[in-house]
Amino acid sequence: MSLVTDRRRVVLGVAGGIAAYKACELLRRLTESGHQVRVIPTESALNFVGAATFEALSGQPVHTGVFTDVPEVAHVRLGQQAELVVIAPATADLLARAAHGRADDLLTATLLTARCPVLLVPAMHTEMWLHPATRDNVALLRSRGIVVLEPAAGRLTGVDTGPGRLPEPVEIAELARLLLERPDALPQDLAGRRVVVSAGGTREPLDPVRFLGNRSSGRQGYALARVAAQRGAQVTLVSAHTADLVPPASVRMVTVGTAAELREVMVAESKQADAVVMAAAVADFRPESLVGHKIKKTESGPPTITLATNPDILVELVGLRPGGQLVVGFAAETGDESGDVLHHGRAKLARKGCDLLVVNAVGDGVAFEQPDNGGWLLAADGGETELANGSKALLASRVWDAVAARLG
Ligand code: C5P
Repeated sequence: MSLVTDRRRVVLGVAGGIAAYKACELLRRLTESGHQVRVIPTESALNFVGAATFEALSGQPVHTGVFTDVPEVAHVRLGQQAELVVIAPATADLLARAAHGRADDLLTATLLTARCPVLLVPAMHTEMWLHPATRDNVALLRSRGIVVLEPAAGRLTGVDTGPGRLPEPVEIAELARLLLERPDALPQDLAGRRVVVSAGGTREPLDPVRFLGNRSSGRQGYALARVAAQRGAQVTLVSAHTADLVPPASVRMVTVGTAAELREVMVAESKQADAVVMAAAVADFRPESLVGHKIKKTESGPPTITLATNPDILVELVGLRPGGQLVVGFAAETGDESGDVLHHGRAKLARKGCDLLVVNAVGDGVAFEQPDNGGWLLAADGGETELANGSKALLASRVWDAVAARLG
């Protein structure tokens, strides 16, 4: 399968912070997606990564000032032609210059001429990120519709830890793709909201080495958590087993194994939440008893495994829901002789009692373990929206639109 999805003109700005080295991987990801990427570093970024690296990886010339390539009027043309500007890392100084409309190098001049979505990805020490000057600059930039990502928390340069790390390049690339698909996908409309999202597939142990599991990669749940956090929500992601995924920046993670563990954490975490999304693939059955030793092959043939039914967590969360809380479920359906995917989705919405239900068609390589998803969003209040096929982050953004509208 080709990785190339679309060919768009992207400007990748790189400011002068140690995380500039991660811009090389981001650049690689953007070019492998088929985009034509023009890198514009600041002069200080070149202290961390040389222009030759960016030129080789992008196949495009690299300049920092407005006095190179003058007949081409690059400081105007690059911004005008861009379909997306991503600046990663965006330092405190870059945010300040952008907020104040400075145009003292090629990158900031390009920001002033760009009319496309702009994605700024801050990386700096925690003190700088939390300083009132930076807070004000971020608020000002966001009020102009510029997307300023929340940084990840964790180890910074030296021994410090705290918010200020650059999110992983794969996460930045996912959000860049989202803005190319939908420029208004990341408003700050969940600011002050608490949301809990479950993701991945539960594993029900049979003996110390075997379990019953499922094919859920967790990508949709992670995308929901990632998009909610970047729309301002305080997010708890309750993660069962997933593919090798990068934890979303600025999200609190709780990991679980079995459906019983997932249930316990979801019931506790949901108490204070404004919205709860059950994107996890929960095993409907578990082995009735856990065998304490590895089950051996015997002459008498395979053992019989007796199954017990797991509780339906979604139904339970609906029953426990405090006033004003929204509960969202997912339904992976296939059509059969009794009805199509949508018919089964409507019946499931009624049965589960949740406020919103995302219905996906699955099977034949659709949805499971794939980067893209689509389907329908059904609402208990009668709404029915088709979710056009696109990235899982795009589907997540549509779900959060519906949640934000209903939370008011
Ligand atoms: O009934 P079905 O498994 O199709 O329902 C899917 C929805 O119900 C998903 O939101 C899933 O997270 C949730 N679910 C649950 N507990 C179960 C089975 C499914 O919460 N035991």
